[in-house]
Order: sequence, then structure tokens, then C-alpha cells
Amino acid sequence: MQFFVDTAEVAEIAELAEAGLVDGVTTNPSLILKSGRNILEVTREICALVDGPVSAEVTAVKLDEMVAEGRRLAEIAPNIAIKLPLTWDGLKACRILTGEGRMVNVTLCFSAAQALLAARAGATFISPFIGRLDDINLDGLDLIADIRRIYDNYGFQTKILAASIRSVNHVTEVAKIGADVATVPPGVLRALVRHPLTDRGLEQFLADWARTGQRIL
Ligand code: G3P
Repeated sequence: MQFFVDTAEVAEIAELAEAGLVDGVTTNPSLILKSGRNILEVTREICALVDGPVSAEVTAVKLDEMVAEGRRLAEIAPNIAIKLPLTWDGLKACRILTGEGRMVNVTLCFSAAQALLAARAGATFISPFIGRLDDINLDGLDLIADIRRIYDNYGFQTKILAASIRSVNHVTEVAKIGADVATVPPGVLRALVRHPLTDRGLEQFLADWARTGQRIL
């Protein structure tokens, strides 16, 4: 499974990229607001930091403007994936922009029916939002499993990009189901490495080693 980082904070991306953990990046209008940066400038910087897909989201809702904004975003760098909302105009824009050879990430997906339409529209990625379904007491992980089953039934090439990830458990569960990508907030990505028994075990090893009086170097 690939890891994308779900942020527009350049410093966070740079630091995590050093660990070889960043296969791509996803942003959205809320993350751009949080970054306090100009969308074109910060997206250009992110595209230069990672080789993988960088999702930048259009803000128009009508077909013609969506396509125009998508083409503008795609001019930033070759690794741009244009993010389009899962609406009729978004699906039509997806068909046009993928038809031009561009990567498209169809976002704000909350049902298997929506994901089926996105695959039919030729989406490169589909972004089902797990956490927001959990927030209303629906099971976001069930949606990932349903989409995986439907896509495998028909050999759809659209990649399942699990989004709205809130916990380490979300990451491991979507990996078990077979999501192609998880886009993970920096804090959750860092939490993947942590376990209290690892900390305790290392502490004991170092204490016992100190008692040997030995040195390796
Ligand atoms: O990539 C989508 C993600 O940023 C949404 O996450 O936590 O706002 O539902 P969240």
C-alpha cells in the first residue's frame, strides 16, 4: 500500500519524505486555508518535493470552470492529480480531463454507488472519506471493502485512495482490505511507528547492555 501525506504544510512533507514514507500528497481547500499559503505557490513547492502524485483541488462547481481550473492546476507540474468533487459536473470534468491524459482524484466519496460512477468516469484515484462516515456512526471501513469488491469484480483500474484517516487503526484496516493508497495526516503517519512495548523493550536492552561494560565501537 502507498502512503500519501494529507497536508499542505511543506515542512511536514519535507521531513516525512526524508524517511522515504511519502509516495504522494493530497491537499484540499481546507488544508490550503490552514497552510496560509497561495494555492499555486505552495502546490508548486510540494510538487518539487515529491515525485509521486500531488492532489490539488478545483474550487469551481460548474463543468466549464472545473475543467479550466483543472487545466490550470495541471500546468503547475507533471505530477499534479486534479481533485474533483463527486458531483455530476465533477464526473463530466473527470472524463474530459482524464481524456486529455491528466491524473484525476475524485474526492468527497461517501458511497459505493458514487465510487462505481467515478471508476466509470475514468478516475485515476477515488477518495472515500472514512473518518467523516465514522463521525455520523456509519462504518467508513465497510465502504472501502465494498469499493474494493466492486472494483475487483469488474477489473476497474481506479486506485482506492483511503482518505479522512484519523487513526493508526484506520491505516492498518484499509491495508488489510486492500486499499491502493492511504492518505494520512502527518501526526497519524508518525504514530504508526510508536508502541509502548517497543519503548519499554529498548529501555531494558540499553540498561542491560550498559551493565555488560562493553562497547561495539
Ligand atoms: O483528503 C481528505 C481529508 O483531508 C479529509 O479529512 O479529517 O477533514 O475528514 P478530514
